[in-house]
Amino acid sequence: MTKPKEEKKIESLKGQIQKGKGVDIGTMFVKCAYKEGDEIVFKSQRNAFFEVEHTDFTKKILDNSKVKYIIKEDNLYVVGDEALQFANMFNKDTRRPLSKGVISPTEKEALPIIELLIKSVVGEPAHKPGGNGLPSNRQSHKPEGDGSASYCRSHKGEIVYFSVPGEPLDAEFNVLYHIKIVEGFLKTLGYTPKPINEGHAIILSELAEEDFTGIGLSFGGGMVNVCLSFMSVPIFKFSVAKSGDWIDQQVAMAVDETASRVSAIKESSLDLSKEGDLSKIESALSIYYNHLIEYVIENIKQEFAKARRLPRIANPISIILSGGTSLPKGFSGRFKQILDRLKLPIPVGSVRMASQPLRSVAKGALIAASADESKK
Ligand SMILES: Nc1ncnc2c1ncn2[C@@H]1O[C@H](COP(=O)(O)OP(=O)(O)OP(=O)(O)O)[C@@H](O)[C@H]1O
Ligand SMILES: [Mg+2]
Repeated sequence: MTKPKEEKKIESLKGQIQKGKGVDIGTMFVKCAYKEGDEIVFKSQRNAFFEVEHTDFTKKILDNSKVKYIIKEDNLYVVGDEALQFANMFNKDTRRPLSKGVISPTEKEALPIIELLIKSVVGEPAHKPGGNGLPSNRQSHKPEGDGSASYCRSHKGEIVYFSVPGEPLDAEFNVLYHIKIVEGFLKTLGYTPKPINEGHAIILSELAEEDFTGIGLSFGGGMVNVCLSFMSVPIFKFSVAKSGDWIDQQVAMAVDETASRVSAIKESSLDLSKEGDLSKIESALSIYYNHLIEYVIENIKQEFAKARRLPRIANPISIILSGGTSLPKGFSGRFKQILDRLKLPIPVGSVRMASQPLRSVAKGALIAASADESKK
């Protein structure tokens, strides 16, 4: 029996890497999402580096174990997930190429490190322009100088959407420099890069059934990103430069602990639904979580007040919570309580966690890329 055309097409896509990728470039992690057949595959690396002593012997060992590193002016920096392992071994902290969601102005090695991290999670395009239209079906992660330069500078490469923070309301920097640098790295790899706001990516990932209308919130490491969208069109978007890192620092100062220890407790056992019988660190964490949520909601209210023409939204809107800082047990309950008290100027329906809170930005960026690719 012959199979219907559609079925044949689906079978022929099985296991193949589809065109279009989404990249989330966060203060703590760099993540990539792409489709293999019907499944979304995620790759991730810690956005961190650690300096180790530069000897030929160390270099050889790192080469043999395929650890990512760069050498700059005689210094050797281990990059990505392994940087954390090295830092733990030496009982020190890693350094970060990003600060508050954008390229760190104070880390002079930030650029080559981010470039290497992007390359390691995104790889090269599985689809090269001018080919036979079929994917090579392999995610290649070739080292530099592999002869792929012939299509490197093409602007018709596979589309990659990469996340960018909204303009910060409370910090003195703009995101243009960051966008241009990341765009350059992706172009060099052979992609056609396009920026997408981090909050907007969450809407695309989570609100398909609500016509992409609602508020997407990403509580990350360096910042909180917010986007109000109506029928997939962003009405306002912004960021605040306070989030998980800020909580760690404030709590550390308040209780005279290191930020790393506070962060470890926060990530492993914080329960925001617990009332009473809290340790000193837990109660300080609870206080700063309250402050952060209030601060974000107050800023959303101000953006509503500033927006002159708001669309008439007939139904109560949904609010999606995502990002590492939203992970503690009881976070959404705490958010709802504070929202009930502070209130938004429009009716709110469901307030819920994203289906995969650490992956929704990369997934939303992938959805945008796949939609663009299908129009090509
Ligand atoms: N289980 C957890 N409980 C509480 N906080 C957590 C948990 N896991 C991670 N975090 C915190 O989440 C933050 C990182 O979140 P995420 O991975 O979403 O950030 P990012 O996207 O890299 O950063 P940004 O969006 O700010 O640029 C850190 O502050 C980390 O301590
Ligand atoms: Mg993020």
